[in-house]
Amino acid sequence: MLILRSEIDGTRIRAIDKFVASGARSPSGRPVIFVHDPSLAEVVLHRPEFDREPLARSLYGNGIVFSDGEHWRERRRIVQPSFPPRDPDHHLQDVMWAAPGLVRRFEAAAASGATLGVVEETVRYTVRVLYRGVFGQELPEDHDRVEFLEYFDSIGGLLLATIFPELKLDARSMSSIKLQASTMNAEVDRLVGIRRAEAGSSAENRNDVLGRIIEKVGDADGGDGVRDEVRSLLMAGAETTSTALSFLLLMLATHPEARTRLEHEIDAGSNGASGTSGASPFLDAVIFETLRLFPPVWFVARETLVPVTLGDRRLEKDEMVFVSTALIHRHPDLWAEPDSFMPERFLPGSEGAWQPPHRYAFFPFGGGRHLCLGRHVAMHELRIAAREIVRRFQVDIVESTPLAAELGVVLKPGRKIRVRVVERGRTPR
Ligand code: HEM
Repeated sequence: MLILRSEIDGTRIRAIDKFVASGARSPSGRPVIFVHDPSLAEVVLHRPEFDREPLARSLYGNGIVFSDGEHWRERRRIVQPSFPPRDPDHHLQDVMWAAPGLVRRFEAAAASGATLGVVEETVRYTVRVLYRGVFGQELPEDHDRVEFLEYFDSIGGLLLATIFPELKLDARSMSSIKLQASTMNAEVDRLVGIRRAEAGSSAENRNDVLGRIIEKVGDADGGDGVRDEVRSLLMAGAETTSTALSFLLLMLATHPEARTRLEHEIDAGSNGASGTSGASPFLDAVIFETLRLFPPVWFVARETLVPVTLGDRRLEKDEMVFVSTALIHRHPDLWAEPDSFMPERFLPGSEGAWQPPHRYAFFPFGGGRHLCLGRHVAMHELRIAAREIVRRFQVDIVESTPLAAELGVVLKPGRKIRVRVVERGRTPR
């Protein structure tokens, strides 16, 4: 398996610093330009001269998450109705449906004393939300679709190995990538097959994304367009939120003061029943601080379509530009004690709600025309799961699994990290 593991010092992910210092090369051999300045990030994310770059597209396909231009606009028209901007609660029922399954699995672990793989448990939950909300299919709470992680790891590793020269791919990695890709494609075909078989039944009327993709993208290209779209939504919606939830639990496990403060807020019932914005200020602050330190999409990649000026640099056509979310989120000119986990920095102050030092000082969901479509679902998933877990359990990292990160397209905690779960108020077994 090709995956880049990194130690975490406090909260600092060593490999990211190393990569940026040692540089990266686009597939054409030209140096990748890293953007660490929030004003330039805004330019890159908003200006039409910067397009999504083709490397990720060649690996993941031409779905909404990796495409641009007219193709992307057409896909966005198909997918957007399932994420109406004026209805942030659109998928709240899907989240409320899936969250009790996650809690039951924690309950069972607390009762038996078994340890849990935090990444696997959280991805099991986010996959269930996604399948129900976006693909119209309900998975059982102990489903095994966590195997997708292997595919995401492989392709993420392939992408990084292409641009960071010190990473090398060997023949074993390549054959493992092919195997994972075929498992993934089989699952995508299964999902699409079920929905097609439903055509003609009452389920046909369900207005979810999968139905619309099948109807509007069509079969003209042998089904590749539909497959690309389903794969890209799985990629966008499952691992990102699960990663954020995992890091959140790990941060609480390593920051007892923050955990106690959050327990008090939740116990006092200051959180809203729906988990909607503003109802639970410290919970939101913990979520934002986690997304600041560990943005799941740790860089946003673009390519110049034409020669363009960026700050004091002149870029040629076809240059690869990485907006370094992970580094801007820790920029010492923007953030006090940038590497410390301090959720209180996001709390409203005497001046009112928290204001970022720059519009692009904190942008875990991206910005501009590609702003994340699933951000409201993700926030519901994080709020509801974190609230329920913290209300019921104390979660601690098993000592033999130190905090580590893994890097692909998504920044995630090490897969081997295991946690021990105890019902609050009970002594550990
Ligand atoms: C904490 C969780 C999440 C984070 C941090 C996140 C982050 C992002 C970022 C940074 C982008 C912009 C990428 C770019 O500019 O190239 C993006 C795009 C996108 N995200 Fe998310 N995302 C999350 C959850 C979700 C969920 C749950 C879904 C639901 C399926 C989703 C669907 C999408 C889609 C469809 C796009 C492409 C938008 C477009 O290009 O038009 N995301 N996400």
